[in-house]
Amino acid sequence: MSSVSSSIVMIIVFRFHLVNLYNEGEWFNADPEVVIAQALQTGGGPNVSDAYTINGLPGPLYNCSAKDTFKLRVKTGKTYLLRLINAALNDELFFSIADHTLTVVDVDAIYVKPFETNTVLIAPGQTTNLLLKTKPHYPNATFFMSARPYATGQGTFDNSTVSGILEYQVPPNILLHSTKIPLIKPTLPALNDTSFATKFTNKLRSLASPQFPANVPQNVDRHFFFTDQKPSRPETT
Ligand SMILES: *[C@@H]1O[C@H](CO)[C@@H](O)[C@H](O)[C@H]1NC(C)=O
Ligand SMILES: *[C@@H]1O[C@H](CO)[C@@H](O)[C@H](O)[C@H]1NC(C)=O
Ligand SMILES: *[C@@H]1O[C@H](CO)[C@@H](O)[C@H](O)[C@H]1NC(C)=O
Ligand SMILES: *[C@@H]1O[C@H](CO)[C@@H](O)[C@H](O)[C@H]1NC(C)=O
Ligand SMILES: *[C@@H]1O[C@H](CO)[C@@H](O)[C@H](O)[C@H]1NC(C)=O
Repeated sequence: MSSVSSSIVMIIVFRFHLVNLYNEGEWFNADPEVVIAQALQTGGGPNVSDAYTINGLPGPLYNCSAKDTFKLRVKTGKTYLLRLINAALNDELFFSIADHTLTVVDVDAIYVKPFETNTVLIAPGQTTNLLLKTKPHYPNATFFMSARPYATGQGTFDNSTVSGILEYQVPPNILLHSTKIPLIKPTLPALNDTSFATKFTNKLRSLASPQFPANVPQNVDRHFFFTDQKPSRPETT
């Protein structure tokens, strides 16, 4: 949730090759506890953050943080399970790995009907599990994994992009003639791409099948009416 959030990379040998726990966070050049306390007091949005982070690292797209880049080193021809958490304060985030397809298998600790996508959308506090199949042959390239927000509101927000790097281990039979191999960047949806967001969330389906139906109640027996209002100006006490 903040600059002080821990950066965790958990590696466990599992049915898939590795399990990685990703934490997409947010960095404030301020005390994040004060930022949220002020937002709650005024009823306004929290101050705009200075960067997003992947496992606590802002990466090469911000000034001076190129050395603080999260790198995921992978082998060819494997399936990795990526466990993604959106630990940002208040932003929905698009996440994509250049030139790779992700298979969404779980959202918020519930299995979903697996589907493939180039980009996932994850809400603050949400978790998702993704399968990443690495390329069968050494691709002679590295790949950015990037995240930036989806936002449609009027207020200002941190519209920056965070990147980490997916790096393939060089197989022993490949002689690299140069250490400078291409870096491929993903194309993320526009910051306000509601059409992508809608299509993505429409793909989230339970594992229910004719053989194993999800027997949820389908008749409404009581209607409730809720109202909600935000103060139109900061509250004064
Ligand atoms: C948040 O932004 C307001 C307005 O710019 C500023 O007065 C306040 O100090 C900021 N809060 C923090 C914790 O930096
Ligand atoms: C990086 O620094 C330059 C020059 O100071 C500035 O114009 C630019 O906005 C900064 N970029 C970011 C992402 O902070
Ligand atoms: C990002 O936000 C800054 C400051 O609000 C603004 O100047 C800039 O045009 C925005 N960039 C994009 C791509 O929306
Ligand atoms: C990898 O790419 C670099 C830069 O494009 C090139 O110089 C090199 O020859 C390539 N290596 C292999 C093994 O294809
Ligand atoms: C998204 O933002 C662009 C400019 O940044 C604007 O031209 C476009 O109309 C917006 N789309 C929607 C659906 O709001």
